[in-house]
Amino acid sequence: MKIAVLPGDGIGPEIIAQALKVLEILRGEGMKIELESAAIGGAGYDAAGDPLPDATLKLARDADAVLLGAVGGPQYDSLDRPLRPERGLLRIRKELNLFANLRPALLYPELAEASSLKPEVVANLDLMIVRELTGDVYFGQPRGIEMRPGPTGGNERVGFNTMLYSESEIRRVAHVAFGIAMKRGKKLCSVEKANVLECSELWKEVMIEVAKDYPEVALSHMYVDNAAMQLIRAPKQFDTIVTGNIFGDILSDAASMLSGSIGMLPSASLDQHKKGMYEPIHGSAPDIAGRDIANPLATILSVAMMYRYTFSDSATADRIEQAVKQVIAQGYRTADIWTAGTMRVSCSEMGAAVIKNL
Ligand code: IPM
Ligand code: MG
Repeated sequence: MKIAVLPGDGIGPEIIAQALKVLEILRGEGMKIELESAAIGGAGYDAAGDPLPDATLKLARDADAVLLGAVGGPQYDSLDRPLRPERGLLRIRKELNLFANLRPALLYPELAEASSLKPEVVANLDLMIVRELTGDVYFGQPRGIEMRPGPTGGNERVGFNTMLYSESEIRRVAHVAFGIAMKRGKKLCSVEKANVLECSELWKEVMIEVAKDYPEVALSHMYVDNAAMQLIRAPKQFDTIVTGNIFGDILSDAASMLSGSIGMLPSASLDQHKKGMYEPIHGSAPDIAGRDIANPLATILSVAMMYRYTFSDSATADRIEQAVKQVIAQGYRTADIWTAGTMRVSCSEMGAAVIKNL
């Protein structure tokens, strides 16, 4: 199993270091794991003038899976758009055809206190958002900023993007989502804005067509504005959600807060052949970078997802997730999830606690 390791920027290298400890343990037990690191994001720009250097893309293409930290930082915000760290992330998703983004939100009962919602609303929450990741307004053409005639005669600037989905793009992510729903609670909610957008109208139609292949799954439909409201009001009504790129971006950030901290949530981005890129949902947190206080659990849980989805080794995935559950039950907390009466630990201490349980 060849894993491309892309630590990225900010807290990326610190949290990746903890996840690598987990992989080292597994390797020590005899698992064949090959690790190779490369620069991405701001680190890629610093090293090679490109947020996705050719060598990094090649490494990622040749690997079975990619483990990514996070990208971005204030020192890169004034660069031209194509050179910005975020562009490196979007390009690697597109180049590797990672169209299905799995973002679970679950809340360990011990962390209910850390959520900003009432404990009874979120305790034992377990939902999965399947976000389409390589289409939509993120990639649709045309896009740009240009001069066009304004209302008073002269020209003015207009900015525009195109929300675009082909039925084949919708269908392939639908199959992933129905497949996941089959293994979970057999309830799938498709989120769109079909009351306003043609793109969403097609999305909904294709979901209904694909549903015929999965008669056991109960498919429902929800407009994205209502879904945002329902996620906060009664999140446990959802089992699996499937949605487009931009709606999924927004809803998954909202869902992450249900689980106490965005520092807890892993993600997987998969292609047609189960190759995947695995990364925490959170960003590079430049304000706390280099201080050894970030929460490494989302990254460690991303390694668990790697075993589940790319290596089809759910025993190892369960074992890693179990170790994380135990450190939470034992009271270890990084700053983002700390509450009175629990043990405040650093990023590396949290990593060590997971290793001990593993
Ligand atoms: C995410 C992030 C990215 C996105 C950014 C950093 C480009 O917000 O992974 O959710 O919008 O997809
Ligand atoms: Mg986002």
